[in-house]
Amino acid sequence: MMNGEGSIKEILEWYISAGVDVTCGEEPYCIEQKASDKFSRQEDLSPKTEPIRQATTNLAQVTGAACQNAKNICSAAKTLEELKQALENFDGCALKLTASHTVFGDGNPQAKIMFIGEAPGADEDRIGTPFVGRSGHLLDKMLEAVGLDRNQCYITNILPWRPPGNRTPLDSEVAVCLPFLKRQIEIIAPDYIFTLGGSAANALLESAESISRLRGKWMEYKRENGSVSKVLASFHPAYLLRSPGQKAKAWADLLRLSKAINS
Ligand code: URA
Repeated sequence: MMNGEGSIKEILEWYISAGVDVTCGEEPYCIEQKASDKFSRQEDLSPKTEPIRQATTNLAQVTGAACQNAKNICSAAKTLEELKQALENFDGCALKLTASHTVFGDGNPQAKIMFIGEAPGADEDRIGTPFVGRSGHLLDKMLEAVGLDRNQCYITNILPWRPPGNRTPLDSEVAVCLPFLKRQIEIIAPDYIFTLGGSAANALLESAESISRLRGKWMEYKRENGSVSKVLASFHPAYLLRSPGQKAKAWADLLRLSKAINS
């Protein structure tokens, strides 16, 4: 089908249209497939479901160990600088291999308000700062509309590395990066957290609810010392750019935040 002159160009165009915009090596590679291949090559494993069960168990163990390692590293970091350095040195998440920058939080470390997004996009990956692309410009306007700017807030993401092609993060990637977010929350101790999009709300609140159900009501995040950060979930600016009809609800959420911080 893909013989002749135009074939490589067509394949590359197809990859780009499917969101594949980075190559990590010369051979196509699929982690899940490699794991199950490995087990299916072993000779006397029967019944046939055994290799899959074993591969899944092994992947879960690897993820569990990486999460524990991340937690240990994070508890040792006493300041944001130490945490940033620890994250730069951390090798427990494969997303780092395809990212150009580790995108740590930005803004005022003494802020009482923290905004949490999902993961860096292409612009953030290129520059190394969260929310500096189209979504970031909208976020800046949203802040401005309620009299805030980046000097009064701290802005970060669930993941510090861009998933290739902006794909949805895997649960294992979120799990292994979450200790770094939670440690940022411990160090900054914000009174208010405003999550942007479903992934951020679900990861922080350990919920599986849709963002439409979660948004618009105050919830709580309990920090290690028992203090509470009040959490308001809202839509992600990227979603608002695609669905401007939802901006009224996001505006209502911002007003709720503004009322709380000014009361
Ligand atoms: N989207 C996010 O969730 N975070 C960013 O930093 C940029 C875009």
